[in-house]
Amino acid sequence: MLIILLGPPGAGKGTQAERIVIKYQLAYISTGDILRGAVREQTNLGRKAKQYMDQGQLVPDELVVAIVKDRLADPDCAEGALLDGFPRTVVQADFLEKALPEIGIKIGKVLSIEVAEEELIERLTGRRVCSECGANFHLKFKPPKVRNVCDLCGGDLYQRDDDTLETVKERLEVYKKQTEPLIAFYEEKGILSPIDGNQDIEAVNDQINIILEKI
Ligand code: AP5
Ligand code: MG
Ligand code: ZN
Repeated sequence: MLIILLGPPGAGKGTQAERIVIKYQLAYISTGDILRGAVREQTNLGRKAKQYMDQGQLVPDELVVAIVKDRLADPDCAEGALLDGFPRTVVQADFLEKALPEIGIKIGKVLSIEVAEEELIERLTGRRVCSECGANFHLKFKPPKVRNVCDLCGGDLYQRDDDTLETVKERLEVYKKQTEPLIAFYEEKGILSPIDGNQDIEAVNDQINIILEKI
Protein backbone atom coordinates (compact mmCIF):
# COMPACT_ATOMS: atom_id res chain seq x y z
CA MET A 1 0.00 0.00 0.00
CA LEU A 2 1.13 3.52 -0.76
CA ILE A 3 0.74 6.42 1.66
CA ILE A 4 1.17 9.89 0.17
CA LEU A 5 2.21 12.96 2.15
CA LEU A 6 0.85 16.08 0.50
CA GLY A 7 1.36 19.59 1.78
CA PRO A 8 3.10 22.91 1.18
CA PRO A 9 6.82 23.43 1.73
CA GLY A 10 7.49 23.39 5.46
CA ALA A 11 4.23 21.62 6.37
CA GLY A 12 6.21 18.92 8.19
CA LYS A 13 6.16 16.15 5.58
CA GLY A 14 9.75 15.07 6.22
CA THR A 15 9.39 15.41 9.99
CA GLN A 16 6.30 13.19 10.07
CA ALA A 17 7.78 10.79 7.52
CA GLU A 18 10.68 9.99 9.89
CA ARG A 19 8.12 8.66 12.39
CA ILE A 20 5.66 7.01 9.97
CA VAL A 21 8.27 4.84 8.21
CA ILE A 22 9.52 3.47 11.53
CA LYS A 23 6.09 2.76 13.01
CA TYR A 24 4.58 1.21 9.87
CA GLN A 25 7.81 -0.24 8.40
CA LEU A 26 7.35 1.45 5.04
CA ALA A 27 9.96 2.14 2.37
CA TYR A 28 10.57 5.90 2.16
CA ILE A 29 10.55 7.84 -1.12
CA SER A 30 11.27 11.57 -0.88
CA THR A 31 11.80 13.05 -4.33
CA GLY A 32 13.32 16.14 -2.71
CA ASP A 33 15.93 14.03 -0.86
CA ILE A 34 16.71 11.98 -3.99
CA LEU A 35 17.15 15.17 -6.05
CA ARG A 36 19.37 16.81 -3.41
CA GLY A 37 21.49 13.62 -3.37
CA ALA A 38 21.88 13.86 -7.16
CA VAL A 39 22.87 17.54 -6.89
CA ARG A 40 25.50 16.69 -4.25
CA GLU A 41 26.93 13.91 -6.39
CA GLN A 42 26.84 16.14 -9.47
CA THR A 43 25.18 13.52 -11.64
CA ASN A 44 23.50 14.42 -14.92
CA LEU A 45 20.14 14.48 -13.17
CA GLY A 46 21.60 16.64 -10.38
CA ARG A 47 22.97 19.21 -12.81
CA LYS A 48 19.61 19.49 -14.56
CA ALA A 49 17.58 19.60 -11.34
CA LYS A 50 19.72 22.17 -9.50
CA GLN A 51 18.73 25.13 -11.67
CA TYR A 52 15.04 24.56 -10.92
CA MET A 53 15.46 23.76 -7.22
CA ASP A 54 17.59 26.84 -6.51
CA GLN A 55 14.85 29.03 -7.96
CA GLY A 56 12.06 27.31 -6.06
CA GLN A 57 10.57 25.86 -9.24
CA LEU A 58 9.49 22.27 -9.78
CA VAL A 59 11.86 19.93 -11.60
CA PRO A 60 10.27 18.83 -14.94
CA ASP A 61 7.72 16.02 -14.59
CA GLU A 62 9.54 13.58 -16.88
CA LEU A 63 12.69 13.64 -14.71
CA VAL A 64 10.80 13.16 -11.46
CA VAL A 65 8.49 10.47 -12.83
CA ALA A 66 11.54 8.49 -14.01
CA ILE A 67 13.04 8.67 -10.49
CA VAL A 68 9.86 7.39 -8.85
CA LYS A 69 9.37 4.65 -11.43
CA ASP A 70 12.88 3.32 -10.74
CA ARG A 71 12.51 3.60 -6.99
CA LEU A 72 9.13 1.82 -6.88
CA ALA A 73 10.76 -1.13 -8.65
CA ASP A 74 13.18 -1.64 -5.73
CA PRO A 75 12.48 -4.77 -3.65
CA ASP A 76 11.86 -2.81 -0.42
CA CYS A 77 8.84 -1.14 -2.08
CA ALA A 78 7.11 -4.42 -2.94
CA GLU A 79 4.78 -4.16 0.07
CA GLY A 80 4.30 -0.44 -0.24
CA ALA A 81 5.97 2.86 0.49
CA LEU A 82 5.59 6.35 1.90
CA LEU A 83 5.76 9.02 -0.79
CA ASP A 84 6.92 12.46 0.46
CA GLY A 85 6.65 15.29 -2.05
CA PHE A 86 5.37 13.19 -4.94
CA PRO A 87 3.06 13.60 -6.81
CA ARG A 88 3.26 17.37 -7.00
CA THR A 89 1.45 18.02 -10.29
CA VAL A 90 -1.61 16.54 -11.98
CA VAL A 91 0.70 14.99 -14.60
CA GLN A 92 2.59 13.16 -11.83
CA ALA A 93 -0.66 12.02 -10.19
CA ASP A 94 -1.91 10.67 -13.53
CA PHE A 95 1.34 8.77 -13.94
CA LEU A 96 0.77 7.05 -10.58
CA GLU A 97 -2.82 6.17 -11.47
CA LYS A 98 -1.56 4.37 -14.57
CA ALA A 99 1.57 2.81 -13.10
CA LEU A 100 0.16 1.39 -9.86
CA PRO A 101 -2.11 -1.32 -11.30
CA GLU A 102 0.92 -2.65 -13.22
CA ILE A 103 3.05 -2.73 -10.08
CA GLY A 104 0.17 -4.21 -8.09
CA ILE A 105 -0.05 -1.65 -5.26
CA LYS A 106 -2.79 0.81 -4.31
CA ILE A 107 -2.88 4.22 -2.69
CA GLY A 108 -4.18 3.67 0.85
CA LYS A 109 -4.35 7.30 1.97
CA VAL A 110 -3.30 10.78 0.94
CA LEU A 111 -2.48 12.78 4.08
CA SER A 112 -2.82 16.48 3.32
CA ILE A 113 -0.96 18.48 5.98
CA GLU A 114 -2.37 22.01 6.18
CA VAL A 115 -0.47 24.88 7.81
CA ALA A 116 -0.96 28.68 7.80
CA GLU A 117 1.38 30.55 5.44
CA GLU A 118 3.16 32.80 8.03
CA GLU A 119 3.99 29.69 10.04
CA LEU A 120 5.43 27.96 6.94
CA ILE A 121 7.83 30.84 6.34
CA GLU A 122 9.09 30.70 9.94
CA ARG A 123 9.49 26.93 9.80
CA LEU A 124 11.48 26.98 6.56
CA THR A 125 13.80 29.88 7.29
CA GLY A 126 14.65 28.35 10.72
CA ARG A 127 15.11 24.79 9.48
CA ARG A 128 18.47 23.02 9.78
CA VAL A 129 19.20 19.60 8.24
CA CYS A 130 21.80 16.97 9.14
CA SER A 131 24.41 16.60 6.39
CA GLU A 132 24.97 12.95 7.37
CA CYS A 133 21.55 11.40 8.07
CA GLY A 134 19.12 14.03 6.74
CA ALA A 135 17.27 14.52 10.05
CA ASN A 136 15.35 17.81 10.35
CA PHE A 137 15.79 20.36 13.11
CA HIS A 138 14.53 23.88 13.74
CA LEU A 139 16.33 26.71 15.54
CA LYS A 140 13.22 27.47 17.60
CA PHE A 141 10.75 24.58 17.30
CA LYS A 142 13.14 21.61 17.41
CA PRO A 143 16.59 22.82 18.42
CA PRO A 144 19.43 20.28 18.49
CA LYS A 145 20.94 19.62 21.95
CA VAL A 146 24.31 20.96 20.78
CA ARG A 147 24.34 23.93 18.39
CA ASN A 148 24.73 22.83 14.72
CA VAL A 149 25.24 19.16 15.67
CA CYS A 150 22.75 16.36 14.88
CA ASP A 151 21.23 14.70 17.97
CA LEU A 152 20.94 11.39 16.15
CA CYS A 153 24.33 10.89 14.50
CA GLY A 154 26.58 13.81 15.46
CA GLY A 155 26.71 15.10 11.86
CA ASP A 156 27.00 18.83 11.01
CA LEU A 157 23.74 20.70 10.42
CA TYR A 158 23.32 22.95 7.37
CA GLN A 159 20.71 25.26 5.90
CA ARG A 160 19.17 24.17 2.57
CA ASP A 161 19.99 26.44 -0.40
CA ASP A 162 16.27 26.88 -1.10
CA ASP A 163 15.37 27.94 2.45
CA THR A 164 16.12 31.65 1.92
CA LEU A 165 13.14 33.99 2.35
CA GLU A 166 12.99 34.86 -1.36
CA THR A 167 13.04 31.24 -2.58
CA VAL A 168 10.61 30.15 0.14
CA LYS A 169 8.06 32.70 -1.14
CA GLU A 170 8.47 31.39 -4.68
CA ARG A 171 8.06 27.77 -3.52
CA LEU A 172 4.81 28.68 -1.76
CA GLU A 173 3.47 30.29 -4.97
CA VAL A 174 4.47 27.25 -7.01
CA TYR A 175 2.71 25.01 -4.48
CA LYS A 176 -0.55 26.98 -4.79
CA LYS A 177 -0.53 26.90 -8.58
CA GLN A 178 0.77 23.43 -9.34
CA THR A 179 0.27 21.18 -6.31
CA GLU A 180 -2.81 22.41 -4.44
CA PRO A 181 -5.14 21.13 -7.22
CA LEU A 182 -4.17 17.61 -6.10
CA ILE A 183 -6.23 18.09 -2.93
CA ALA A 184 -9.45 18.11 -5.01
CA PHE A 185 -8.04 15.33 -7.24
CA TYR A 186 -7.69 12.92 -4.30
CA GLU A 187 -10.77 14.19 -2.47
CA GLU A 188 -12.82 13.09 -5.46
CA LYS A 189 -11.30 9.63 -5.19
CA GLY A 190 -12.34 9.47 -1.53
CA ILE A 191 -8.82 8.83 -0.20
CA LEU A 192 -7.87 12.28 1.11
CA SER A 193 -7.46 12.91 4.85
CA PRO A 194 -6.79 16.52 5.88
CA ILE A 195 -4.39 16.89 8.80
CA ASP A 196 -4.24 20.05 10.92
CA GLY A 197 -0.51 20.80 10.76
CA ASN A 198 -0.70 23.98 12.88
CA GLN A 199 0.01 21.99 16.03
CA ASP A 200 3.18 20.71 17.59
CA ILE A 201 5.02 17.78 16.01
CA GLU A 202 3.62 15.16 18.42
CA ALA A 203 0.02 16.35 18.07
CA VAL A 204 0.27 16.19 14.27
CA ASN A 205 1.73 12.70 14.54
CA ASP A 206 -1.16 11.60 16.78
CA GLN A 207 -3.70 12.70 14.14
CA ILE A 208 -1.81 10.78 11.46
CA ASN A 209 -1.65 7.61 13.56
CA ILE A 210 -5.39 7.66 14.18
CA ILE A 211 -5.96 7.66 10.43
CA LEU A 212 -3.28 5.11 9.51
CA GLU A 213 -4.34 2.66 12.20
CA LYS A 214 -7.78 2.46 10.58
CA ILE A 215 -6.58 1.31 7.15
P1 AP5 B 1 11.19 19.01 -1.07
O1 AP5 B 1 12.46 18.61 -0.46
O2 AP5 B 1 10.10 18.00 -1.17
O3 AP5 B 1 10.70 20.31 -0.35
P2 AP5 B 1 9.24 20.90 -0.01
O4 AP5 B 1 8.05 20.21 -0.54
O5 AP5 B 1 9.38 22.32 -0.35
O6 AP5 B 1 9.05 20.57 1.46
P3 AP5 B 1 10.09 20.75 2.58
O7 AP5 B 1 11.01 19.58 2.62
O8 AP5 B 1 10.69 22.11 2.51
O9 AP5 B 1 9.12 20.75 3.85
P4 AP5 B 1 8.55 19.56 4.70
O10 AP5 B 1 7.06 19.54 4.53
O11 AP5 B 1 9.27 18.28 4.48
O12 AP5 B 1 8.84 20.12 6.16
P5 AP5 B 1 9.86 19.62 7.30
O13 AP5 B 1 9.35 18.37 7.92
O14 AP5 B 1 11.26 19.65 6.81
O15 AP5 B 1 11.46 19.55 -2.56
C1 AP5 B 1 12.52 20.46 -2.80
C2 AP5 B 1 12.57 20.81 -4.27
O16 AP5 B 1 12.81 19.62 -5.04
C3 AP5 B 1 11.28 21.39 -4.86
O17 AP5 B 1 11.20 22.78 -4.67
C4 AP5 B 1 11.43 20.99 -6.34
O18 AP5 B 1 12.33 21.85 -6.99
C5 AP5 B 1 12.06 19.63 -6.24
N1 AP5 B 1 11.08 18.55 -6.20
C6 AP5 B 1 10.87 17.66 -5.19
N2 AP5 B 1 9.87 16.81 -5.48
C7 AP5 B 1 9.42 17.17 -6.72
C8 AP5 B 1 8.38 16.69 -7.56
N3 AP5 B 1 7.60 15.66 -7.18
N4 AP5 B 1 8.21 17.30 -8.76
C9 AP5 B 1 8.99 18.32 -9.15
N5 AP5 B 1 9.98 18.84 -8.40
C10 AP5 B 1 10.19 18.27 -7.18
O19 AP5 B 1 9.64 20.80 8.36
C11 AP5 B 1 10.10 22.11 8.09
C12 AP5 B 1 10.67 22.72 9.39
O20 AP5 B 1 9.61 22.88 10.35
C13 AP5 B 1 11.73 21.85 10.09
O21 AP5 B 1 12.70 22.68 10.62
C14 AP5 B 1 10.95 21.12 11.20
O22 AP5 B 1 11.77 20.83 12.31
C15 AP5 B 1 9.86 22.15 11.54
N6 AP5 B 1 8.57 21.52 11.89
C16 AP5 B 1 8.00 20.43 11.31
N7 AP5 B 1 6.79 20.16 11.88
C17 AP5 B 1 6.60 21.13 12.82
C18 AP5 B 1 5.54 21.42 13.75
N8 AP5 B 1 4.43 20.65 13.80
N9 AP5 B 1 5.67 22.50 14.56
C19 AP5 B 1 6.79 23.28 14.51
N10 AP5 B 1 7.84 23.06 13.66
C20 AP5 B 1 7.74 22.00 12.83
MG1 MG C 1 10.82 17.66 3.19
ZN1 ZN D 1 22.27 13.12 11.59
